[in-house]
Amino acid sequence: MIKTVENKEIEKQYEYMEKIKDKVSGLKYYINTMGCKLNENDSEKISGMLTQMGYIETTKFEDANLVVFNTCCIRENAEEKVFGNLGELKNIKAKNNMIICFAGCMSQEPHVIEKIKKSYSQVDIIFGTHNIYKFPEMLYNKLDSQRRIFDVWNIDGEIFEGLPIKRNGETSASVTIMNGCNNFCAYCIVPYTRGRERSRSPRDILREIEELAKEGYNEIMLLGQNVNSYNGGEGYGFANLLRDIDKIEGINIVRFMSPHPKDFTDNVIDAIAECNSICKVIHLPLQSGSSNVLKLMNRRYTKESYLELVDKIRAKIPNVAFTTDIIVGFPGETEEDFADTLDVVKKVKYEQVFMFIYSVRKGTKAETMPNHVPEEVKSERFGRLKALADKLTEEENMKYIGTIQDVLVEGESKNNKDMLSGRTRTNKVVIFEGDKELIGKEIKIKITSQHIWFLRGSIVKG
Ligand code: SAH
Ligand code: SF4
Ligand code: F3S
Repeated sequence: MIKTVENKEIEKQYEYMEKIKDKVSGLKYYINTMGCKLNENDSEKISGMLTQMGYIETTKFEDANLVVFNTCCIRENAEEKVFGNLGELKNIKAKNNMIICFAGCMSQEPHVIEKIKKSYSQVDIIFGTHNIYKFPEMLYNKLDSQRRIFDVWNIDGEIFEGLPIKRNGETSASVTIMNGCNNFCAYCIVPYTRGRERSRSPRDILREIEELAKEGYNEIMLLGQNVNSYNGGEGYGFANLLRDIDKIEGINIVRFMSPHPKDFTDNVIDAIAECNSICKVIHLPLQSGSSNVLKLMNRRYTKESYLELVDKIRAKIPNVAFTTDIIVGFPGETEEDFADTLDVVKKVKYEQVFMFIYSVRKGTKAETMPNHVPEEVKSERFGRLKALADKLTEEENMKYIGTIQDVLVEGESKNNKDMLSGRTRTNKVVIFEGDKELIGKEIKIKITSQHIWFLRGSIVKG
């Protein structure tokens, strides 16, 4: 379903941004972004609005006059950290006349709001995932009245278009194509924090990507909780969108995350195979390799159907690579179930496995399921899975040594400013020596060694 906020409402927000300018121009802001790429993309939108108001970004939160916590609650550890950070800010708030905003998925959880109302008076504004576009209005009201503003909606917000965005990357840009999730996997909080699926209109998505191409971006990451259930109306689905994006001149690399195995149609596989710009690495979340556990998780595929899907994709797309997410220690997971997970990992030979220890989330179906797995069993299984995944990644990486890869140069290496960092078409990070002028270009690199999380290489001359 497509639901877009009316232009009138967006115009109103531009008016608020204008009205605030005099009061805040030149002040500094800092955004602390937790969680997934969707949150990162939301932060780019919040950044865009703040920049439009005249705020300047700072990388030091102690210098900021306005701080936004864009939070995540997918697992427990993220939550504790945020409350720790809020505590730290209490002491410097007065010094900078600081405004503290709390946003993101945690703010959609009623128990979090209660806790902030009661014990964290330093928080000035709370807004949720559905009303980000109203941030200018909330900030205006805060500056005007000095009241605390709590504005969290318990409904599925509409998608907004046309507000400013300040992007983090110079070559690669994220484009959210849909919000929300209808799947209710038993362990997952996202359907509660992001509401039901709403797709952006194809016209708005394509227009945004055309603009990005004009601005010099050549890589696009399409984002959604379940991208292959994208519904652009009148039978226009994810496969059509991929084909139309492929036609846009200047966009050389298109990635997407995450697809759901249950919705991976032949049409989508064909589109990936046909379109040159679409990256031949597919993130295909497994979660568990056991059909019993998958049923309890409400994933709506089995070990067998998942493996069949992988075979089908491999048959149509030669050299395709897979990455995945796996949860270890879901309630009821037995040693045999876990052996099935290891078995799938061995069979698929993923390029990369993102592993998570199951974390109970309030209000989800799994919270009240029987047979929760003891912590020590979870960590022991996690260790075994990690050892296997690392061994297989190493074996996969070894295959790259001596080959020449097309690498999109992304920037300086984070750990060594004298080196450059880029990614292969299969999403492998490659570190190499080179001139900074290469940033943004796709070049040929000969791979010389592997280091599990990255490859090293040297530029092929000529
Ligand atoms: N929509 C995406 C997942 C987004 S959350 C998908 O369906 O693949 C990212 C990952 O976090 C999930 O794939 C899952 O592996 C992990 N995850 C989600 N809830 C979790 C929980 N309660 N405990 C541990 N890991 C979890
Ligand atoms: Fe969570 Fe499942 Fe939706 Fe992914 S598909 S966001 S794991 S409920
Ligand atoms: Fe976290 Fe919300 Fe993303 S819970 S993983 S920030 S959708």
